[in-house]
Amino acid sequence: MHAPFSQDPPVRKDAQEDASPPALSIIIPTFNEVDNIRPLVGRLHETLVGIEWEVIFVDDDSADHTIDIIRRISLQDRRVRGIRRVNRRGLAGACLEGILSSSAPIVAVMDADLQHDETCLPKMFRMISTTSADLVVATRYGEPPQHVDGFTRLRQPGSILATGIAQRLLPTPTSDPMSGFFMVKRGIVEAAAPRLSLHGFKILLDILTSSPSPPTIAEVNYDFRPRLHGESKLDAMIVMEYLGLIVAKLTGDLITPRFLMFCIVGSIGLAVHLAVLRLLLLDDLSFPVAQTFAMMSAVLSNYTLNNALTYRDRRRRGWRYLTGLAVFSLLCSFGVFAGVGLSTLIYDQEPYWWLDGIGGAVIGAVWNYVTSSAITWRA
Ligand code: GDD
Ligand code: MN
Repeated sequence: MHAPFSQDPPVRKDAQEDASPPALSIIIPTFNEVDNIRPLVGRLHETLVGIEWEVIFVDDDSADHTIDIIRRISLQDRRVRGIRRVNRRGLAGACLEGILSSSAPIVAVMDADLQHDETCLPKMFRMISTTSADLVVATRYGEPPQHVDGFTRLRQPGSILATGIAQRLLPTPTSDPMSGFFMVKRGIVEAAAPRLSLHGFKILLDILTSSPSPPTIAEVNYDFRPRLHGESKLDAMIVMEYLGLIVAKLTGDLITPRFLMFCIVGSIGLAVHLAVLRLLLLDDLSFPVAQTFAMMSAVLSNYTLNNALTYRDRRRRGWRYLTGLAVFSLLCSFGVFAGVGLSTLIYDQEPYWWLDGIGGAVIGAVWNYVTSSAITWRA
C-alpha cells in the first residue's frame, strides 16, 4: 500500500493531537497541480516518520481547483494545511507567504510535481538540526554528477548558464543556487524577508544574496526526476524576471526588476511613438495632429504592456482596465510637464542639449514609474 489517502478516510483527528507543534514545515507552492497532491502527501507520510512535520501548500487560485483537494485532505490530516491566494501570482511570493505563516523553526521548500526527491528530507533535517548549517541545498550539480532526467533538451544548458551567472553573485558558494528544493532555519528567511522579490522562481538565490549575514550552507545530492503530472510554468517571462533579479542584486537593489521592465516598456513606447509619427507625416497630416496621435499610441502601448508585464501581479481587468488607462494618461501628462519644466531649469544652469534631453527623460520616467506604482497599479 502506498498513499494513506488513496480513499478519503472519514476519520477526523482529535483536536488534542494538534498539541505538538511542528519541528519542520514543508512549503509547497502549487499552480495547477491537482493530480500531484495526493501522491505527494502520501510520500511525505512514508518518508518523514519520526519527525514532527506539517506541509503548507500555497496555491494561487489554480483553475484546476488544486485547493479543493488540499482542503479535503487537510480536514482529515492535521499535518496538511493550505493557503489560497487570489489575484496574486508568483512562485517566490507564494513560498515566502508559506514560510512566514509557519511556526516551525525549520522550513523546507519543494515543488509539488514530484521532481524533487522527498526522501532527502530526513537527511536535510538531520544536517540542519545537528550541524552548524543554516541552510541545506538539495543540488542537481553535486559530485559525483547526478541524473537530471527532469530537464528538457533546452532547459539543461539554460540552467547551467543561469547557475554560472548566479554563482558570481553569491556571498558563499553553492553548486545549485537555482534549486527550488532547500531547507532553511526560518529566522534566516525572516531576516532577509524585507529585501526579497515576490516574483520569479529564484527564491533561494534571493535569500542567499539578501541575508544580512551570509548563511552557512550544506548540500545534499539528488536526482532531478521528470514531472509526474501537468506541465512546467517556467516561461520567457520567468527568465526575464531572473535577469531582472540579477540586475537588482548587482546594483544593490537600486534598479528593481519592476523598474527595469518599466523602462523596457517605455522604450517600446518611444519606438511606437516615432513609428506612428513617421507614418502619419507621410500621410500629409499636420505635425501637431500627427504628434498628438503618436503620443496617444505610445501611452496606449505603455499602459497595455505595463498592465500585462510590469504589473502583471496587479493587473487591471474589465472596467478597471479603462479607468486605469484614464488615470495613467493623466499622470503621464503631468510627467511630461515635470520633465520639461525641471529639465528647462537644468538647461538654464548647464546649457547642453543632451544633458537637458537625458535629464528630462529620466525625470519623466521616474515620475511615471513612481505614480504608476503608487496610484495606477497601487498594491
Ligand atoms: N503558488 C504558485 N504560484 N506556485 C507556482 C507558480 C505560481 O505562480 N508557478 C509555479 N508554481 C509551482 C508549481 O506548481 C510547482 O509546484 C513549483 O512551483 C515549480 O514549478 P514548475 O513549473 O514545475 O517549475 P520547473 O520544474 O520548471 O522549475 C524547477 O526548477 C527550477 C530550476 O531549474 C523549480 O524547482 C524551480 O523552483 C527551480 O528554480
Ligand atoms: Mn517542476
